[in-house]
Amino acid sequence: MTTALITGASSGIGAAFADRLAADGHDLVLVARSVGVMEAHAERLRREHGIAVDVIGQDLAEPDAPERIVAALGGKPVDLLINNAGFGTCGRFEDVDAERDRRQIMVNIAALVGLTHALVPGMLARGRGGVINVASVAAFQTSPHFSVYSSAKTFVLNFSLALWAEYQGRGVNVLALCPGPVKTAFFDVIGTEEAAIGGKYETPERVVDSALKALARNRGYVVPGRGTFALAHLMPRRPRKLVALIAKRVTRGVAGTAQRSETVPARS
Ligand SMILES: NC(=O)c1ccc[n+]([C@@H]2O[C@H](COP(=O)([O-])OP(=O)(O)OC[C@H]3O[C@@H](n4cnc5c(N)ncnc54)[C@H](OP(=O)(O)O)[C@@H]3O)[C@@H](O)[C@H]2O)c1
Repeated sequence: MTTALITGASSGIGAAFADRLAADGHDLVLVARSVGVMEAHAERLRREHGIAVDVIGQDLAEPDAPERIVAALGGKPVDLLINNAGFGTCGRFEDVDAERDRRQIMVNIAALVGLTHALVPGMLARGRGGVINVASVAAFQTSPHFSVYSSAKTFVLNFSLALWAEYQGRGVNVLALCPGPVKTAFFDVIGTEEAAIGGKYETPERVVDSALKALARNRGYVVPGRGTFALAHLMPRRPRKLVALIAKRVTRGVAGTAQRSETVPARS
């Protein structure tokens, strides 16, 4: 029996990871702000699969979120860390609420690094473990009108591959999951379906399946879906400024869609 900790487990891809890992017999720790949603989900997973499920209500934008989560774990070892929680902003940079972007960096980057620092040493000491960091196909290129989101996801991809290389032969597999558009509440939060940029939607279940297969094979990163894989790999990288200007044309549909409120509310 192993224990998986999933951030952003109250919705979308994180909830799908919880369903799949519960069906595979793993104990779970679910982390997000929407405690009511996660408690109801946890109750169903305990009943249907006979596994242990803990729920930790935590705002990952708080600077001490990783330490609080470690305290709530009370010494329970975590074998699989899934840093999935995240949200995006889009629109002209000057129109995006600065506090919303600060929170985005805290959730999408700082909490992810903090939890990895907190939980990987235990995995290394036990000689086995896994980390899945949810990046995005947006990690592969500069994306005007998604300036902070795409840059954060580039960080997640590079960070994950660095650890993947460091932990070769040490029993800990690290994977960056880089999906294109996935049918979740992500687009409600970012404020527009146009943020999908015309891509074909994957389901959360297919994305989770791709991630778990790629982690087992220690692939380092995975881009689910053939079309999305091609987009990530065939797009030219250079000349960098020309690529950025072309990307600005591709993303111009979201230029006027910035969310002005500073916080994204939890679900319950
Ligand atoms: N959907 C897509 O098209 C797509 C594509 C590529 C990558 N991704 C990435 O996939 C990941 C999961 O997103 P999703 O598509 O499943 O969207 P989602 O349905 O909106 O789920 C986002 C999850 O993140 C959690 N979260 C957000 N802010 C948080 C905070 N301050 N503290 C704690 N938890 C927080 C949410 O929980 P609470 O609101 O309960 O806190 C929720 O469980 C994200 O990292 C996203 O960037 C999504």
